[in-house]
Amino acid sequence: MTANPHIRIFDTTLRDGEQSPGASMTHTEKLELASLMEDMGVDVIEAGFPAASDGDFAAVSAIAAQSKSAIICGLARSTPSDIERCAEAVKKAARPRIHTFISTSPVHMKHKLKMGPNAVLEAVGRSVAQARNHTDDVEWSAEDATRTDFDFLCKCIDVAIASGATTINVPDTVGYSHPDEYGALFRRLIENVPNSDKAIWSAHCHNDLGLAVANSISAVANGARQIECAINGLGERAGNAALEEVVMAMKVREDTLPFSTGINPIYLSRASAMVSRITGFPVQYNKAIVGKNAFAHESGIHQDGMLKNAETYEIMKPEDVGVAKTSLVMGKHSGRHAFRDKLESMGYFLEGDALNDAFKRFKTLADKKKHVFDDDIAVLVDDQLAAEGE
Ligand code: KIV
Ligand code: ZN
Repeated sequence: MTANPHIRIFDTTLRDGEQSPGASMTHTEKLELASLMEDMGVDVIEAGFPAASDGDFAAVSAIAAQSKSAIICGLARSTPSDIERCAEAVKKAARPRIHTFISTSPVHMKHKLKMGPNAVLEAVGRSVAQARNHTDDVEWSAEDATRTDFDFLCKCIDVAIASGATTINVPDTVGYSHPDEYGALFRRLIENVPNSDKAIWSAHCHNDLGLAVANSISAVANGARQIECAINGLGERAGNAALEEVVMAMKVREDTLPFSTGINPIYLSRASAMVSRITGFPVQYNKAIVGKNAFAHESGIHQDGMLKNAETYEIMKPEDVGVAKTSLVMGKHSGRHAFRDKLESMGYFLEGDALNDAFKRFKTLADKKKHVFDDDIAVLVDDQLAAEGE
């Protein structure tokens, strides 16, 4: 049996993620997070944008120096000074990468760069060649690729590969694509760009329409072999594709997405909690994989199913992603079966009328109170047992 193709996980929490307004991290926090990423099995850590500030430079250098196995990548615009600064920052890594980019869409070239297509093409070749003087691992990105003229995009990528780029990233910078469209773009590019097999193709999706994960998966199904993502989906504006979601989408649905990653999912909830603590950004309760409610069940029907067999309402095991266990939350939707199970876990073994009474009192309480805690249940049952004993 042949192994599934390996999808590289490129984590940009420390670069694109840190660009989220309000998400800045200290030097020590960045080192702590980078270390967890390596333990988790991230292939490429985008540690920062060294030319952006002295602090970013110092963080990228320190992460490079502490790295063991992961590729450590720094971002650089196509200017010579950015590339030199980036090369200096990543040089202590066992596996350094320079990631250089320039915009290729008409709107970006005209209004942001104020450059014509020929000047952009010249910058692509020059910047990639300069980066290659420092390392043989160079990634090139066409910023705003999904709003770029297809033929021009092919030309830029052709020049980047010919100049030595080993990874080609096709970002959906403004989160504009739909999954079919983004997947088709990869397929067409891989079919049309000369020497497309000389580079690894990478997806970098933003979540402005909530499609970043779906787009990334579609890219993989159409030839991409690297996904750029961030823990908790952190990133500019609505964020990047969430690392935990792309990883588990492939793991849980290996039947239709026969790909594998090097991520050990047991670390996912810890990584999510660490990013949330460091940035102060709470994780949405119903966030897939790592949200507080991702493995919580309140309705009686669901709780009953869960108590009979967890596969009724869970498609993955909570412990596989580092969550201690499923929780059956006691509320007004809970059923007798779950209530009894909860009582037993608390050391109360009620039967017959005593159980019926306690359940009735619990339902009355749950109608009045949003959260019914174990302590509430204990008081309710203790009162009942005391009254029965009188
Ligand atoms: O979204 C984007 O286009 C980027 C590039 C710099 C890769 O973050
Ligand atoms: Zn981005």
